[in-house]
Amino acid sequence: MSPENNIVELRGLRKAFGKKVILDGLDLDVPRGESTVIIGGSGTGKSVLLKHMIGLLRPDAGSVKVDGVELSTLDNRELTRFRSRFGMAFQEGALFDSMTVAKNVAFPLVRLGLGSEKERAKRVEECLALVRLEDAGAKLPSQLSGGMRRRVGFARAIAHRPEVLLFDEPTTGLDPVTKDVIDELIVELKETLGATVVTITHDMESVFKIADWIGMLHGGVIVARAAPGEFRSLTDPRVREFLGRTVGAHQTH
Ligand SMILES: Nc1ncnc2c1ncn2[C@@H]1O[C@H](COP(=O)(O)OP(=O)(O)OP(=O)(O)O)[C@@H](O)[C@H]1O
Ligand SMILES: [Mg+2]
Repeated sequence: MSPENNIVELRGLRKAFGKKVILDGLDLDVPRGESTVIIGGSGTGKSVLLKHMIGLLRPDAGSVKVDGVELSTLDNRELTRFRSRFGMAFQEGALFDSMTVAKNVAFPLVRLGLGSEKERAKRVEECLALVRLEDAGAKLPSQLSGGMRRRVGFARAIAHRPEVLLFDEPTTGLDPVTKDVIDELIVELKETLGATVVTITHDMESVFKIADWIGMLHGGVIVARAAPGEFRSLTDPRVREFLGRTVGAHQTH
């Protein structure tokens, strides 16, 4: 694949916290308009990796290129403007506790000055309906369950129709029906809006539903990256072990 087809290119990415090396010379290509899923054990650095893609974390070494732009060359203002092209739903939700759900979802629209108040309200309603939370707009995050908060974070990430979407475990803790709704939304965002999507998930059923590419993070690098069909038949023992533990446990039908 030629470089211009990759919206994100990571090269030799290195990140340590204190003496603990998390990313150790990681390379990854994220093709434009496709869905990339990152899998890997807990604590391997998946969330850390995602945060590097939007400059929320800076690498100790290596390069993060987005659309050909090296993020390390951007100052804070440029970085803020650049981030408006992204929508990110954080693993921990990261909602504003003192704002209603509707205000949380409207936040990126207000910050970017998009639409009139009426148009924003309509878009908020739309996004909340997409995640099946049409009645939650007036509530505070503290009045919601964890799974509901996660869906509010998802609605907020998509509100401004960004071209790149980053979802950190969007379906964790959701019931199977709601989980399907989110998985289908991810595919739809890609197919109807042409968005590039990067998702982290532990749920192998979701992985095979939503991924065009699966990348496995292990030991600070992407040890395998392949399309789903090929990924299933990889012989790398680290992949086999991961699939054996997770896929086997879910294949009940
Ligand atoms: N800001 C930080 N300061 C110090 N250590 C951090 C920081 N962020 C992450 N870490 C450490 O980096 C490692 C990787 O964390 P990360 O959250 O990326 O894991 P993960 O793969 O997303 O795990 P999980 O599947 O449990 O979400 C962990 O050991 C974590 O404690
Ligand atoms: Mg994580």
